[in-house]
Amino acid sequence: MSQTRQNVIFGKGNKNGGIFIIGEVPDRQEDLQGRPFVGKSGQLLDKILAACGFTRDEHVFISNIVKYRLPENRVPTSREAAVCMPWLLKQIELANPKIIILLGATTLKYMAGPEYRITRERGNWLNLQNRLYMPVYHPAALLRNPSLKRDTWEDYKKIVIKYREVVNPDHYSAYV
Ligand code: URA
Ligand code: URA
Repeated sequence: MSQTRQNVIFGKGNKNGGIFIIGEVPDRQEDLQGRPFVGKSGQLLDKILAACGFTRDEHVFISNIVKYRLPENRVPTSREAAVCMPWLLKQIELANPKIIILLGATTLKYMAGPEYRITRERGNWLNLQNRLYMPVYHPAALLRNPSLKRDTWEDYKKIVIKYREVVNPDHYSAYV
């Protein structure tokens, strides 16, 4: 693991923006640049956020379940997720976000529990330990299977509507 690992990437964005996004694991690009979601997935995520009227600088903080790159970009084991979890929970506590977006099956599983399935839970608000979570498909899944984009946009619309309710009633999005 230490041969692949260069950077520990805690996250990036505005901790006080109200929205906390949790991804899975940094990829090679992220590892090289020291920032989360800079590759193809990140570009798609930025497009979706832009359609919602959200920017990384102002509205969201982005972090990951595991804070460093894993060999062959495999999904994290439960042991690896558990090792990093205290950092993530502390980040969430400090940011105190109004809305937490869970990106993908692995993130949902480690945040909510092994019985949670992304195909079933996506688009439905989860209330866990008094926080509001929206599970959505991971942008990498949208790149692999573009037919998931339509449902995913419906999920993000719910996030914009909720953001107006709990953070800023005047939030502007051209599309929602
Ligand atoms: N980059 C990240 O930082 N996290 C992911 O889940 C995917 C790409
Ligand atoms: N499979 C995944 O691993 N993630 C998704 O978001 C959807 C399907």
